Amino acid sequence: MTSTDLKPVLVLERKIFPDAWPESAFREILEDADWSAVVAEYKGKIIGYAIYLIVLNESHLANIAVDEPFRRKSVAKHLLEHILKVVQEKKCEVILLEVRVSNREARAFYERFGFKELYRRKKYYREPVEDALVMARALN
Ligand SMILES: CC(C)(COP(=O)(O)OP(=O)(O)OC[C@H]1O[C@@H](n2cnc3c(N)ncnc32)[C@H](O)[C@@H]1OP(=O)(O)O)[C@@H](O)C(=O)NCCC(=O)NCCS
Repeated sequence: MTSTDLKPVLVLERKIFPDAWPESAFREILEDADWSAVVAEYKGKIIGYAIYLIVLNESHLANIAVDEPFRRKSVAKHLLEHILKVVQEKKCEVILLEVRVSNREARAFYERFGFKELYRRKKYYREPVEDALVMARALN
């Protein structure tokens, strides 16, 4: 993801998430060496993106989203596989994430890729207020 991708990424972010991240958060991520962001394109159009953070031997999948018409076509799978490859190359031992308890699609996606529930973080989300499940996958 580069700053020229921000406009279409923000359109997707606002379409997909009721508690969308502000533009300032995306700009900070692009400037911070600990954070990385990748996009998936189809015919020159951004159809998905993912954001992750590496801190020492831990990585954190902070966001992954695919435009609705392009779901169930392995777009998120490709984004996640790319991230897993990078974080393993950087010697991370684990990848963590939070997901809304009601987000069945994302939970099924993460479970499919070997993430296991660790614990519940009470009232982690706003708009609407909801608990998060913290999930993790060990890396080789
Ligand atoms: C979660 C999300 C990113 C998955 O993206 P996607 O590109 O549709 O996922 P993929 O096509 O790569 O799915 C790979 C596998 O994950 C599982 N999976 C994905 N979506 C699923 C769903 N809705 N129901 C059940 N399993 C699902 C399946 O095993 C799927 O393989 P299959 O299609 O061969 O059965 C997408 O649904 C999305 O953008 N949701 C809204 C944003 C969001 O909630 N992000 C997560 C925030 S924590």
